[in-house]
Amino acid sequence: MIPVITIDGPSGTGKGTIAHLLSNRLGWHCLDSGALYRVLGLTAQRLGVELDDADAVAALAVRLKVTFAADRVLLDGEDVTDAIRTEQAGMAASRVAAHPSARAALLAWQRARACPPGLVADGRDMGTVVFPHAPLKVFLDASPEERAKRRYKQLKEKGLDANLPNLIVDIRERDTRDRSRQVAPLRAAGDAVVLDSTTLSVDEVLDRVLKEVRRVFPELVP
Ligand code: C5P
Repeated sequence: MIPVITIDGPSGTGKGTIAHLLSNRLGWHCLDSGALYRVLGLTAQRLGVELDDADAVAALAVRLKVTFAADRVLLDGEDVTDAIRTEQAGMAASRVAAHPSARAALLAWQRARACPPGLVADGRDMGTVVFPHAPLKVFLDASPEERAKRRYKQLKEKGLDANLPNLIVDIRERDTRDRSRQVAPLRAAGDAVVLDSTTLSVDEVLDRVLKEVRRVFPELVP
């Protein structure tokens, strides 16, 4: 059995950052499953496929050729790392991710990312659906206002346009869709460790996660 650590939660909780830091620390692989849905949303938009058309989106998902190479995301060999990071791509991802058939088409690809020595997987349903037997599951949460503030700061740092009230509305809308969809809704697995990062720094969250890693895999972290 390849060891897997899942880190789920809504957008803006810092789970991507924590997953990245943790996988580096352990020397494990890292799966950013949100990037997969973002690539699917981007592909649908580029091809003019209606995001709510479940059959058409699932057909795209079956053929999707995504490669994660170092910190870049490639679609059919094209570097789409920056293109998938916009708010619009996030919203498109959340719409295509609502289709059960599209999710099913991406399941095997995600599970195949579990390779030795181990995998840190971040997303919404890593602990509930994709890796239900993972020995350590973390669910990271934070208030919508704090998440919007973090996103605002990130966008400003990149020199991009950002509006805080709009970001709060977007985050709430995406949360509602992710939590209320019928298949793989965003929720903590029953056996997940729930961490609220609203008032914590990245280092503090990482410390708490490492404490859990030590508990479950005592041989891995001194
Ligand atoms: O994590 P990120 O913000 O990149 O995810 C973008 C969208 O992809 C989420 O809002 C969610 O709708 C979808 N997603 C999902 N399941 C995952 C990861 C992401 O449905 N495991």
